Amino acid sequence: MKTPILDELNKIRKRERVSFHMPGHKGKSTLINWADYIPYMDTTELDGLDNLHNPTGIIKESQELAAKAFGAKKTIYSVNGTTAGIYIALGAVTNPGDTILIQRQSHKSIYNAAILNRLNIDYIYANYNEKYHLYTGINPLDVELKLKENPNISAVVISHPNYFGLCSDIEKIAEIVHKYDKILLVDEAHGSHFTFSDKLPVSSLEAGADICVQSIHKTLPSFTQTSMIHVGTSRVNIEKLKRMSSLYQTTSPSYIFMLSLEIARAYMEDEGKYRLDKIIEKAEELTEKLKAIDGVYVFTGDEEDRTIKYKDATKILFGIENMTGTQVMKALMEDYGIYLEMSDYYYALALSSVMNDEEDFDYLKKALEDLARRRPEKGHKAMDFDLPKAKASICLYEAYYSPKEVVNLRESIGRISASFVIPYPPGVPLLCPGELISPELVEYIEFANQIGIEIIGLISYNKEKIEVVK
Ligand SMILES: Cc1ncc(COP(=O)(O)O)c(C=O)c1O
Repeated sequence: MKTPILDELNKIRKRERVSFHMPGHKGKSTLINWADYIPYMDTTELDGLDNLHNPTGIIKESQELAAKAFGAKKTIYSVNGTTAGIYIALGAVTNPGDTILIQRQSHKSIYNAAILNRLNIDYIYANYNEKYHLYTGINPLDVELKLKENPNISAVVISHPNYFGLCSDIEKIAEIVHKYDKILLVDEAHGSHFTFSDKLPVSSLEAGADICVQSIHKTLPSFTQTSMIHVGTSRVNIEKLKRMSSLYQTTSPSYIFMLSLEIARAYMEDEGKYRLDKIIEKAEELTEKLKAIDGVYVFTGDEEDRTIKYKDATKILFGIENMTGTQVMKALMEDYGIYLEMSDYYYALALSSVMNDEEDFDYLKKALEDLARRRPEKGHKAMDFDLPKAKASICLYEAYYSPKEVVNLRESIGRISASFVIPYPPGVPLLCPGELISPELVEYIEFANQIGIEIIGLISYNKEKIEVVK
């Protein structure tokens, strides 16, 4: 009997001592013992169990309780993650052919939503902080400039926080967007816990967002794939939102997932709220201790960088001198059984949640003390990841659905990209479908290939080919 997924999951279960990654439940139960509920509670729309696609009973009530807890006018559960949540929310606040303003550093679900909803895209760029080698926040004045320049923009999409827990001045951005009578949609995939503590950044709904989508599973104790779409203002057409929800979500929504969303909300309204404050304290204490370890650095902000308004204390962004973030992440996993959320050239990211034990933080500190003591004497080359900017030639969805051909990189200069080309790090699209391939972009790809940066979207084993519009 071959069970490769089961085998690998069992291996990790044996090896992992501490989780500093998603999902937020960290492999533990809250309020109920999930072992008693799975698989029995995995059921269908039996009498009395309501229907996510037309809720009038228990699902309606559960969503209303969630709306109250998160400060929304209306909440819809997404059992297809924030990915579908973004498709739904963006579909609800736009019409095909509209233009939206997004951050270039947006998650691919936003790009995919633009393809599905046939939207044109205009970009704003997060600040690249050269001192700390990080993309940080959005300057609200850049949003204003774009809205002045391009009156066709109907909605603005902002990520709050970014992957590293950094937040732009979202209140100011909401004020500007509304001054121009546009919609603010917030991708709050990494910020569903904000509502539950004053020590965390302001939530997007509090800041004035019209609509937001949260991956409850990323930072709160619910199962992977469980998200919520929250409506903050009367600018959102609820009937259209419901239609979009039915368009993009499965016709067999999982009761385990919906229950998991309900449990996470109920837990956070009570015990979870107190635990969250404790965990924030513990994460802040750890941050201070890490800063004091010789050879360890932690990013806690940059007073000179005015694009950072808030930093989420539950996300600890750190590194060790003379090691790449990826080497640190690998060593923590292999030598100490500590699994982190992600790493790049400079940093590794530990994601803590209400389900971490206080001892987890002490264990991470000890491991980093030990690892820093053993760090190599010589460092790696300093590198910048501020990407050259591409220019659109045709719109994203047109290029996406066009006939394509594969050509050598050098021959692609002057052609239109048919795919997303994304170097990791920094995980930001260098090229999107519809953008013109310039000599500068090809040089960057060649340079990235040479130094071993992983590039998604190139073709062939040694990555010297690219798909272009025919
Ligand atoms: C910023 C951001 N937005 C949206 C998503 C999609 O969320 P989900 O995994 O819940 O579909 C992710 C997932 O990693 C993300 O990082």
